Amino acid sequence: MTSNSTPTLLFNLEGRVALVTGASRGIGEASARLLAQHGAHVVLVSRRQDALDRVAATITASGGKATAIAAHTGDSAARIALIEKVAQDFGRLDILVNNAATNPHFGHISETPETMVDKTIEVNIKGYFQLSALASRLMKKNGRGAIVNIASVNGVKPGMFQGIYSITKAAVINMSQAFAKECAPWGVRCNAVLPGLTDTKFASALTQDEKIYNRVMDIIPLRRMAQPGEIAAAVLFLASDAASYVTGTTLTVDGGMIGCGGI
Ligand SMILES: NC(=O)c1ccc[n+]([C@@H]2O[C@H](COP(=O)([O-])OP(=O)(O)OC[C@H]3O[C@@H](n4cnc5c(N)ncnc54)[C@H](OP(=O)(O)O)[C@@H]3O)[C@@H](O)[C@H]2O)c1
Repeated sequence: MTSNSTPTLLFNLEGRVALVTGASRGIGEASARLLAQHGAHVVLVSRRQDALDRVAATITASGGKATAIAAHTGDSAARIALIEKVAQDFGRLDILVNNAATNPHFGHISETPETMVDKTIEVNIKGYFQLSALASRLMKKNGRGAIVNIASVNGVKPGMFQGIYSITKAAVINMSQAFAKECAPWGVRCNAVLPGLTDTKFASALTQDEKIYNRVMDIIPLRRMAQPGEIAAAVLFLASDAASYVTGTTLTVDGGMIGCGGI
């Protein structure tokens, strides 16, 4: 991209294939919809085929291109099969949005059951890492690609009683820099989005408890939680040519919480 590129084309994703994990609802669904609106053929992934089919149907009904593939991103064989299917069906992958994550333990860090430590690492770290590794090798074939990892503000400052989850999100930030550094020669960029509190099922334990919600609002200068589409906008930017010189960085979308010293 040069300084005289046509501005309106910067976000154009026509002809590109984008795989989005956790695309059946929340931030993943909003990201997939926005990427599809900008022309990408989106490959929607989550564990439930029926939920994905519903999202795919509404995307195609509004003129977009979508394919739904059920897969558990914490499962090694499923990850390999997923990327092999994308390679077989499309022959390319331009965008990977690692978004599916889990947060099974809410409680004191010292009481985290080992099974939950394993599950959180399996999905949030190993899932993101292996999909990035498999995807980047496929992207290398076309000499271009963009990986967008959904981390969290908790990756910078641990959330109270969300210890192992926060630790995995910190790992995702470092992982994004590591992939950015080693995949740059292939034309593959990698960045992380750090959402703050966002109105999804994932955050419902925080958003539906009035006392906790009000306490969180006290540290958010914009005094509200994000809507999933506001996180998706950051995903679109980092996935598109608008971010052609952006790699190895984090984009925080948190209503000012971290930047203004809230946590
Ligand atoms: N909401 C927030 O306040 C917030 C804040 C910071 C960061 N984040 C991050 O944002 C991302 C998305 O969260 P969200 O709030 O949009 O959550 P959400 O609404 O609960 O959606 C989670 C999505 O991930 C899928 N999923 C979960 N585990 C999976 C697995 N093992 N394999 C494949 N798909 C899986 C779910 O579908 P199935 O259950 O059908 O598989 C669903 O599509 C996560 O990485 C989360 O850590 C969220």
